Amino acid sequence: MSKETLTITDNRTSQSYTLPVEHGTIRAMDLRQIKTGPDDFGLMTYDPAFMNTASCRSNITFIDGDRGILRYRGYPIEVLAEHCTYLEVAYLVLFGDLPTEHELKEWVTEITHHTMLHETTKKFMEGFRYNAHPMAMLVSTVAALSTVYPEAKEIQDPANRMHQIKRLIAKMPSIAALAYRHSLGFPYVYPDNDLSYPENFMNMLWKMVEPKYVANPVLARALDILFILHADHEQNCSANTMRCVGSSHADPYLTTAAAAAALSGPLHGGANEEVLKMLDEIGSKQNVPAYVKKIKEGHGKLMGFGHRVYKNYDPRAKVIKWAAERVFEVTGRNPKLDIALELERIALEDEYFIKRKLYPNVDFYSGIIYQAMGFRPEMFTVLFAIPRTVGWLAQWQEMLTDPEQKIGRPRQVWTGHEVRQFVPLKGRSPVAATAR
Ligand code: SDX
Repeated sequence: MSKETLTITDNRTSQSYTLPVEHGTIRAMDLRQIKTGPDDFGLMTYDPAFMNTASCRSNITFIDGDRGILRYRGYPIEVLAEHCTYLEVAYLVLFGDLPTEHELKEWVTEITHHTMLHETTKKFMEGFRYNAHPMAMLVSTVAALSTVYPEAKEIQDPANRMHQIKRLIAKMPSIAALAYRHSLGFPYVYPDNDLSYPENFMNMLWKMVEPKYVANPVLARALDILFILHADHEQNCSANTMRCVGSSHADPYLTTAAAAAALSGPLHGGANEEVLKMLDEIGSKQNVPAYVKKIKEGHGKLMGFGHRVYKNYDPRAKVIKWAAERVFEVTGRNPKLDIALELERIALEDEYFIKRKLYPNVDFYSGIIYQAMGFRPEMFTVLFAIPRTVGWLAQWQEMLTDPEQKIGRPRQVWTGHEVRQFVPLKGRSPVAATAR
């Protein structure tokens, strides 16, 4: 018998089954043969929140949570952050290899020439209230691009998919900047093709009446590094959403909007905004011990801490801490950093957090940098969604081209009523009061 197998004995029938083990998994469908009789549907797995379920095979991003390792297509995140630009990494995440000089030049030219938005997009944006949350504006506007590019629904055509992918990567900063300018009541700024991806984003955000926007190179590089760190993260909540919505063959704009909606949640990409609110609530280093005590008593969570996969320090948080110091040399030190560092110091020494393997994650320090750059907390998750777009699209492509994948449709464990006798309206009596 092959060693790469699992033998299961069903004590209900004393039957034994030998299942193949592949990549450290058994196929859930191999359990269906385990029945107690001919009418039995067969065994399923029950795994709320997919704590221990692999939904796909992937070769995009590798994470070793215990050792704090993150690699895109085999390259360590620290190496990519030090040596590459975001568009270079976006090429790697999407196509699987680092581009040559010529390939990168062509890629940057393509993306640069898709940054313009259809003028109708401005009308979508003008419909939002001045205080609309930028993530809600981004999600809605990305979905609305589905109306501008109806051919995008031809998702089986690889060339058409790639055309929409380039548009989405290019237009995310333009949409984000449009939302930002709208929230401030400032006139919209058009893209400047002379500028790099981060510099052009800064131009569309912050250009006022000067004839040509000149980006601070330190801030532009810090933004580029932050974009690299946020590009992809294997099967996180929003990537899973991208795969599931995409599996119904929805077009890439509606699918990306769904993924961005998932990212907006405070337990996911929305955490960076929540971290700043938490640091504001703490107010000073002196208040940190009392705040930590409150968390340990079960009153809320330490935002920016903990991770489903990392049970060690998030490698991205280390790079972000380094980038923060570079940014503060230009912007001046954000006093919130001292509160964050004290919070990290105390938490990492405290048994409650050590036992639960809670470490700072990517969201713990990113907001402090963004605030120092001049962004309001409502923009922080938008700054996460921009770079993550290429990760979502790479996962989407991988799902669509995987012959094993089909429309995502999980099963359930039934806990409801058996069949009930219908009672006409007049004959019904009130049921025991339950929350309505
Ligand atoms: C991102 O998946 C990804 O890869 C996401 C991401 C990406 O790049 O796409 O990395 C980006 O979303 C980072 C995570 C940002 N979210 C936050 O910072 C919010 C705070 N963190 C937690 O909500 C939590 O840690 C999660 C959601 C990140 C992970 O939750 P899990 O894996 O479901 O863990 P859990 O909620 O089951 O917690 C296990 C225990 C519980 O205590 P007990 O019930 O065992 O007593 O740890 C506790 C939790 O209460 N816990 C925390 C905590 N996180 C978990 N306690 C205090 N503070 C926290 N932050």
